[in-house]
Amino acid sequence: MNDSPFQTLKIPELTGDLPQDVSTFLISNGFWKTAKHCREVAVEAREVALRVGANPDHAELAGWLHDVSVIYPVERRVETAQKLGLPILPEEQQHPMLIHQKLSVAMARDIFGVTEPSVLSAIGCHTTLRAHADLLDKVVFVADKLAWDQDGVAPFHVEMYAALEKSIDHAAFVYLEYLWARRDTLVVIHPWLADAYQDLFKQLFLA
Ligand SMILES: [Fe+2]
Ligand SMILES: [Fe+2]
Repeated sequence: MNDSPFQTLKIPELTGDLPQDVSTFLISNGFWKTAKHCREVAVEAREVALRVGANPDHAELAGWLHDVSVIYPVERRVETAQKLGLPILPEEQQHPMLIHQKLSVAMARDIFGVTEPSVLSAIGCHTTLRAHADLLDKVVFVADKLAWDQDGVAPFHVEMYAALEKSIDHAAFVYLEYLWARRDTLVVIHPWLADAYQDLFKQLFLA
């Protein structure tokens, strides 16, 4: 990791207990609130996974790791992604908050040693989802929105829980539709989000 941008981070000695290691990492970098959010998403992701037949251990792991990269301030995310050789879309250049899902994948793999492809995939689209998302992608996407990290209760919370009774696709679509209805007010529309919206719309309503 000599030329890695990660070498400037405060990385505590890893114990192999991933929840413990992620918590310690975030807290020692001053991100208490993110540590709490990651724990809540991990708990929610396990519950959603058990409900829909996804791997609960993988869901929990992805929940713990999904936001580790928020330790990079928004203004350093493009530069960090470039140093890591990550592909950056024009929409991500324009709204660097969106790059954190890709940065979290690199950190999960290179700092925490995660190699499970489905876990890395779920971390990598937890904000936007993507077309043809697999089950774990949707589980972590939904869990992140149910464990809302903004003030108050998410405006779509009740509807999303109710939709989960039908299917994980219905639950994921609640948030996609919520954003889609507000797309004129978004800083950018990430192409993966647009693809996910159209993909799930077709599957749920046109099939
Ligand atoms: Fe996130
Ligand atoms: Fe999150």
